[in-house]
Amino acid sequence: MKLKWSDVTPQADYLNRRAFLAAGMAALATPALGLEGRPSAFSTDEALNSLEDIAHYNNFYEFGTGKSDPSQHAGGLKTSPWSVTIDGMVDRPGSYGVEDLAPDAALEERIYRLRCVEGWSMVIPWLGVPLAGVLDKAGVQPGAKFVSFQTLHDPEQMPGQRRPILDWPYREGLRLDEAMNPLAILATGLYGRVLPNQNGAPIRLVVPWKYGFKSIKSVVRISLTDSQPECSWQMAQPSEYGFYANVNPQVDHPRWSQATERRIGGGLFGGRQDTLMFNGYGEQVARLYAGMDLAKHY
Ligand code: MTE
Repeated sequence: MKLKWSDVTPQADYLNRRAFLAAGMAALATPALGLEGRPSAFSTDEALNSLEDIAHYNNFYEFGTGKSDPSQHAGGLKTSPWSVTIDGMVDRPGSYGVEDLAPDAALEERIYRLRCVEGWSMVIPWLGVPLAGVLDKAGVQPGAKFVSFQTLHDPEQMPGQRRPILDWPYREGLRLDEAMNPLAILATGLYGRVLPNQNGAPIRLVVPWKYGFKSIKSVVRISLTDSQPECSWQMAQPSEYGFYANVNPQVDHPRWSQATERRIGGGLFGGRQDTLMFNGYGEQVARLYAGMDLAKHY
């Protein structure tokens, strides 16, 4: 089923949100992108999380480790102009403007589940472009096997980077075939508007079948390599956070179960629900891992 967020949001809610947006809370006063009529593939029809939840319950350690730190402290991040360096094993390395990588006219809506490794989840209506198209634009060379991503490193603007919480800059990576899967997108918006800074403006990765920490925010560099890239969480705690980090209810985190999750904003029973293999995207991605021991390659 293919839906736009306005199709699955009760009209009253929609209007409330419009009023809420018009009232213009500082952190959410992002420009509308005029989404009407754009195609949306691979979207879930589950109830959406509210914009309030999506933009106020965040992990973005560059702005602090509390869930409300990013919405309080990311507002000042200068997100324009912003360019992304694409380098390594590509035919056309260079510095690409966000508007060239993800022109507004090319944005697709993708309503995806986001499952954090901490055990909570949301449903978010992203706007973005397939990562595969961006990589094709740069011209991936035959020997490339992996894609690595980096967040901006700027302790002046990102005060969390003055503390040794992680080995900054935040780094993540995918196997090339994972990156080329049509579910993987670079998002520049949500709820029909420009991304709030706390959600990774101006451009962030979204890989919905993996734990949320793989979906790196505020990306400044994408490199094609022939060896598995360093990833910040894996480097910090290799026994807890693997390179693959596929959502898997059968492989527990060493310190907690991954069998269930708490849907943020969920009503009855506190929103507890079963976690799905590959976060429910097995039909699209399971074949990428055929024959692999997913308990070993967690
Ligand atoms: N990217 C950067 N640069 N820094 C971060 O701390 N946190 C990750 C991921 N991307 C993080 C990041 C984690 S743990 C999650 S669950 C998601 O972002 C949260 O995305 P959201 O705040 O937009 O819901």
